[in-house]
Amino acid sequence: MQRRDDPVSASDWCRAQLVAGRKLGFVPTMGALHEGHLSLVRRARAECGLVAVSVFVNPLQFNEARDFERYPRDFDGDARLLADAGCDLVFTGTLEQFFPESGGARDRIAWREPGASAEGLEGALRPGHFRGVATIVARLFELVRPTRAYFGEKDFQQTLVVRQVARELGYPTIVVCPTLREPSGLARSSRNELLSAEQRERAVAIHRGLLRSRALWREDGERRADALRAPIREELALAHLELEYAELRDPDDWTSAEPVAPLERAVALVAARAGSVRLIDNLRLDESSS
Ligand code: PAF
Repeated sequence: MQRRDDPVSASDWCRAQLVAGRKLGFVPTMGALHEGHLSLVRRARAECGLVAVSVFVNPLQFNEARDFERYPRDFDGDARLLADAGCDLVFTGTLEQFFPESGGARDRIAWREPGASAEGLEGALRPGHFRGVATIVARLFELVRPTRAYFGEKDFQQTLVVRQVARELGYPTIVVCPTLREPSGLARSSRNELLSAEQRERAVAIHRGLLRSRALWREDGERRADALRAPIREELALAHLELEYAELRDPDDWTSAEPVAPLERAVALVAARAGSVRLIDNLRLDESSS
């Protein structure tokens, strides 16, 4: 596996593969890799043959300095896991290296606007977050020029933003992969490392609530957003998790506010805090998702 600490030399390697006619799968990450990321790497490997992974804790997408500072980092550990998973290139870099035109000044970065799917929910609670995501993802795509790029469905709204970036650039094909869960049902996330054993147990309530909501959709034919979100709120309250939102959306027609009319398609989305650890999750109610 190639390992590069500088995005330009990583980009050169990627160009050489493309010139040689190879297909490149790309998995952008912020490191602290877990089974969820590795499943993306394996899928990329199966579909493209060659896989590049970026590891960069992108400061542009954090709206809380404390969250950025304590985001878990272990580049050597990540590189070992990636080598075992069959990754061909792992690279990282500094903010200045990714955006050399800025000379380190944020106001000189060529920011990318994330579009309408960034409105509401995560976009409302984390101002600037998706602008930071769109900006780094576009830059990473320009450096790697992948054929396909892989993202986890856990960050549902992010997948919409990333699809928009890819539409604007004209590449790559975006592949959204199912959320990987721990046996308890808790969605795998790098932030889970920050949970105490007791918080981890309480956090399972998020998935329990989502499953109850899906049962309402499937078994009772419930289509009203307010009724579908009720069991999620109930489970979070019982587990003493601090609710940020539990709302429904039509996954194919994103709206910043929750639809009032009965839904034809639905994804339930949740953000909650266990202590100071922020967790998000979602579940498609109208089709099987994990
Ligand atoms: O999902 C993430 O880990 C990040 O938002 C991403 C896509 C790597 C951009 O920094």
